[in-house]
Amino acid sequence: MDALFEEAQQAAAYAYAPYSQFRVGAALLAEDGSIYRGCNVENRSFGLTLCAERSAVVQGVSRGRRTFIALAVATPDSVSPVGPCGACRQVLSEFMAPQGRVRFGGSGDERVDTTIGQLYPYDSLHDLADREKS
Ligand code: THU
Repeated sequence: MDALFEEAQQAAAYAYAPYSQFRVGAALLAEDGSIYRGCNVENRSFGLTLCAERSAVVQGVSRGRRTFIALAVATPDSVSPVGPCGACRQVLSEFMAPQGRVRFGGSGDERVDTTIGQLYPYDSLHDLADREKS
């Protein structure tokens, strides 16, 4: 998770965040060991802003990956850790099992280590996703 978090920190350097000035980097570890980075990409139509986590999902899925086993999120513009937003938790749950590890942290030393299942419990549409994959 240390290496994955460093990837997320590096990804934050590419954030396009002229409106919020809040850079976010994400790194997703696929089950085959490959890593996909993402950053937030804002838009002047604010609702079109894409979070770093979802941009990492798009990178990985676009290269044929469907299952990710760990995620790291770096927010260098906050001292404290900032976790994935609600929309990203939903999207991540599509491609990560509940036990998938998640680490997030800001510019300070504090890191939060948790799982997708803890961040997104009582996933009401999980049965639907299982049906789609079979
Ligand atoms: N943001 C992310 O990229 N991921 C999160 O988990 C939280 C929020 C972005 C969206 C927006 O560009 C900026 O951070 C401020 O909300």
